[in-house]
Amino acid sequence: MSFSVEVLAGIAIELQSGIGHQDRFQRLISTLRHVLDCDASALLRYEGRQFIPLAIDGLAQDVLGRRFTLEGHPRLETIARAGDVVRFPADSDLPDPYDGLIPGQESLKVHACIGLPLFAGQHLIGALTLDGMSPDQFDTFSDEELRLIAALAAGALNNALLIEQLESQNSLPASPTAFEQVAHTEMIGLSPGIMQLKKEIEIVAASDLNVLIEGETGTGKELVAKSIHEASPRGVNPLVYLNCAALPESVAESELFGHVKGAFTGAISNRSGKFEMADNGTLFLDEIGELSLALQAKLLRVLQYGDIQRVGDDRSLRVDVRVLAATNRDLREEVLAGNFRADLFHRLSVFPLSVPALRERGEDVVLLAGFFCEQCRLRMGLSRVVLSPGARTHLMSYGWPGNVRELEHAIHRAVVLARAARSGDEVVIHARHFSLHDESTPATMSEMPEPQVTNRNLRDATEDFQRQMISRALEQNSRSWAASARALETDVANLHRLAKRLGLKP
Ligand SMILES: Nc1ncnc2c1ncn2[C@@H]1O[C@H](COP(=O)(O)OP(=O)(O)OP(=O)(O)O)[C@@H](O)[C@H]1O
Ligand SMILES: [Mg+2]
Repeated sequence: MSFSVEVLAGIAIELQSGIGHQDRFQRLISTLRHVLDCDASALLRYEGRQFIPLAIDGLAQDVLGRRFTLEGHPRLETIARAGDVVRFPADSDLPDPYDGLIPGQESLKVHACIGLPLFAGQHLIGALTLDGMSPDQFDTFSDEELRLIAALAAGALNNALLIEQLESQNSLPASPTAFEQVAHTEMIGLSPGIMQLKKEIEIVAASDLNVLIEGETGTGKELVAKSIHEASPRGVNPLVYLNCAALPESVAESELFGHVKGAFTGAISNRSGKFEMADNGTLFLDEIGELSLALQAKLLRVLQYGDIQRVGDDRSLRVDVRVLAATNRDLREEVLAGNFRADLFHRLSVFPLSVPALRERGEDVVLLAGFFCEQCRLRMGLSRVVLSPGARTHLMSYGWPGNVRELEHAIHRAVVLARAARSGDEVVIHARHFSLHDESTPATMSEMPEPQVTNRNLRDATEDFQRQMISRALEQNSRSWAASARALETDVANLHRLAKRLGLKP
């Protein structure tokens, strides 16, 4: 069986309808999954030597947050190099990027897998991937037919990319090498709050306004500053960082404005300050709320007149610096309390950006978790790092007071814990791997015995902890292995094996 002209026409029509690219891509992917009868399909965009999922069907939600580098994914690298339809042998031992990410499928050892590279002229702009659980699932489709589908998808993707470029205020002419460049700073997230923020970043980047970036701790303020700088015409010049909180009063002025030899004891040579270093670029003043009133006055002067004086020098130097400032305080309140100058506040907050708290971003939590899982996978050389459904529920129900940074650390810690608990290089994160930082977990978790601190290594300590957890679960579940396995969210066969290895069972 192969598909008819009507089917192809149907796909083409799907690509014309739909509101916005996202919707169109989602329709395309869903239609393809239907028509080709595959178990999972994805449309990926290729940029900066990585594949970025744009639309997925039949795959775990967190795939949308994952970024697949060529280096980390030999299968995708093959597709990127191929120039034509790629049919992987069903028993190919190249790891599949979606291994463990098709809900209900434990693993993707033997399966049908097709990759269609998408081109605009000579340039690779993306790929379509099709996966099927039975090895011969796609045998009925000819390469000709698959090429047609690829051509339709490539056309739609290329249009979307062109429109995106036209719409962006500061579109630099697309250089032919853009697709090969290293990935730039990217903010993961599709929630309305983040989409709005990305739009604002693009608008403000093109202007030369100073920007005040507000947001709770760990929300990504520094990332926003980097994005603004990179997208601005100053992006080719330096972005200089200064943390105002870590600045002792005695050296603060010299840090900002530099000093001349002999200006004070210890000033043994001339030294330029951050403002000079950032000339023609951007200065990022982190935690601006911590700056003393005296320095606020000096900063205001620079913003007003564009010139600075090195400490100990009466001549002034002209600098062309754009200031981005960040704070997790409510600066309006600080102004009212007399801790922050109102005039400086007004200068900085011509264009305020507010970074939403993670708990206001809905499913972005899962996308970000996928992003960090993939990072850990690469860094730790694991073949796969996936989230169990329980882990996903936990991520969505927790409040994340420490925002994205807390999530990032929680994922790293969970990967380390989950890896210590099983041999091999495949890691599944369960809800219990987050339990160390979460007060809201069930009593059985928070009442866990403190692991004994000993001088032995991590492995021994981890095994001790596992022994205690398992013994405790057995006690609480009338020594039923099945019930204990459920309580620990693990597979009963694994639990038996682990207990044997830990010497809890003969
Ligand atoms: N949307 C995002 N996508 C990907 N990574 C993110 C995102 N937001 C934040 N991060 C990551 O989370 C971590 C914390 O972000 P960042 O340092 O920018 O937060 P911050 O608001 O400056 O925190 P603080 O208030 O503590 O200074 C960083 O590792 C950053 O790369
Ligand atoms: Mg910061």
